[in-house]
Amino acid sequence: MEPIHLSDDLIFAEGGRRYCFVHPDDPNKCVKTLNPNGDPRKRKKEAVWYKKLRPVSMFDDNKRELKSFEELAKKGEAVWNHFPHCYGIQSTNRGDGIVTDLIRDADGLVSKTVRQYVAANGKTTELLGALEAFFNLFRKHLIITRDVLDHNLVVQAGDEKLTIYMIDGFGSSEVLPFSRWLESVGEKKVARKIARFSARYNLNLRQKPVSK
Ligand SMILES: Nc1ncnc2c1ncn2[C@@H]1O[C@H](COP(=O)(O)OP(=O)(O)OP(=O)(O)O)[C@@H](O)[C@H]1O
Ligand SMILES: [Mg+2]
Repeated sequence: MEPIHLSDDLIFAEGGRRYCFVHPDDPNKCVKTLNPNGDPRKRKKEAVWYKKLRPVSMFDDNKRELKSFEELAKKGEAVWNHFPHCYGIQSTNRGDGIVTDLIRDADGLVSKTVRQYVAANGKTTELLGALEAFFNLFRKHLIITRDVLDHNLVVQAGDEKLTIYMIDGFGSSEVLPFSRWLESVGEKKVARKIARFSARYNLNLRQKPVSK
């Protein structure tokens, strides 16, 4: 397949390691390419000695994310209520890019991150409710991620309600995925991640029992 052409005017955001483009063929998808800080060879070189043993692909956020999407898909259809779909990796004029849904509000604008939402609207009850619904998915399906950060969650403002999507930072940081094997270990780990998120951003999130 021909590499897709990404021009500067399609950039809608930049994170620490990736540029985010609106997909030139579909405004409801985005393409993320690595920026110089995301260069896997550079990151491997700068890693502490014991991490240097890992293959260079482990330092590529797009490749890691693609694997995480494959793991996520095994949890069932409900995950797509809170994660974008992934359409694989495509070559572009700026190197390989991962293609996913671009989360937009009902008015068509790209959704704000939780950080931007709170800066604009404060910690509204609607937001807290949406975050609790989001984390209930994690508790129900034992989804283990790295630490959840407010700039890696977006708040989709729909016609009637807010929905949280996790757009980055998922996939387990564990080298050995113990919690996939042992349910109670997984449950505790998920509860800890949620408590940490709640404490970090002063949110007071509740964790009521979930039905499985
Ligand atoms: N699917 C999406 N829908 C809406 N907005 C998105 C989406 N993906 C990314 N964004 C926006 O782009 C920003 C950067 O994207 P992303 O977090 O994937 O980049 P990154 O470089 O991997 O980030 P980090 O600095 O956390 O490593 C996000 O904070 C968010 O504002
Ligand atoms: Mg990010």
